[in-house]
Amino acid sequence: MRQTSITTLALTFLVLVICHVQAVASGAIFPGIEWLDTQSHPINAHGGGVMYHDGVYYWYGEYKGEFTYRSPGVGWDCYRTEAGGVSCYSSTDLCNWTFEGVVLEPDTTDTHSDIHPTMVIERPKVVYNELTGQFVMWMHIDNYNYGKASAGVAVSDSPTGKFRFIEATRPNGQICRDLTVYKDDDGQAYLFYSSEDNSTLHIALLSPDYLSVTRQYTRNFAGQFREAPAVFKRHGKYYLVTSGCTGWDPNEADLAVADHPMGPYTSLGNPCRGQDADKTFYGQSTFVLPVAGTDQYVMMLDRWNKRDLITSRYIWLPFDFDGNEPLLPWRGVWSPAAANAQSSPLGADKQ
Ligand code: GAL
Repeated sequence: MRQTSITTLALTFLVLVICHVQAVASGAIFPGIEWLDTQSHPINAHGGGVMYHDGVYYWYGEYKGEFTYRSPGVGWDCYRTEAGGVSCYSSTDLCNWTFEGVVLEPDTTDTHSDIHPTMVIERPKVVYNELTGQFVMWMHIDNYNYGKASAGVAVSDSPTGKFRFIEATRPNGQICRDLTVYKDDDGQAYLFYSSEDNSTLHIALLSPDYLSVTRQYTRNFAGQFREAPAVFKRHGKYYLVTSGCTGWDPNEADLAVADHPMGPYTSLGNPCRGQDADKTFYGQSTFVLPVAGTDQYVMMLDRWNKRDLITSRYIWLPFDFDGNEPLLPWRGVWSPAAANAQSSPLGADKQ
């Protein structure tokens, strides 16, 4: 009996060590398991997005502070950390990521700044603008009780920054919380954001330089409280993944399809398959990453640990396609096409 439990313990330890080592340097992704960068530090890039540029993937995300606290005087589950700015990691195989630093730093000097550490900086997304040659970052900017509900924009000449914060505004005067940016093949880019107190998702066309929204926007899923938008295009159709609105707690995802980035979108239901599919595998959507030159699309989810946000994990899973319908089955480990294709040249820029 004792012998058995010692053997079990030893085996468990061995599996944990193997998983850990594989998570350090490998050609595979282990959804939900602590992910270390090439310096063996846990990756700190939450609510993130990935931009592919000149053969390199750049992963931008929320650089969470070490301590999680609840905003004083706020009734709901308002767990947060100091806003640490936006981090960037680079990779060519999507498995091994090198820390490029905090590319948008919080403003620690001006207590009234929209990016002061006491503020909220969430869900950063970066796109490259061919007309200006600049990298443009959009992010959700908020205050201690999420009442500011604005979109922030920053710009840089290089993918690894430093980014210069321009301003935080409400797009067309409308509330903005969870957001993403989608850049289409024709160079037009769109801001997707939860608006009208999260009840309705707005999609606004960005100006040609991507630094502001135009007046052209659509209202989607009116009254349905969808957030955490993530968009991709396949075979001429636009797919939009969203979560429900339950704060840091997981809920059921939805996948919708449209013929145009601004909609109208038709729901196809929950794309997740397998155990805990009704809770999105205890994750929440943040981005869909198209693997360059392949037909692989990677769903990036955050598995939030609301009481210790910095230890929130990443769940990256590739879509399967049933005909044209994207499905998201759970996988404990998988290998991205970019890792398999390391020796062959990467395909066209799909961002
Ligand atoms: C979620 C949102 C997260 C974060 C959190 C704060 O609904 O998706 O990005 O803002 O609320 O409670």
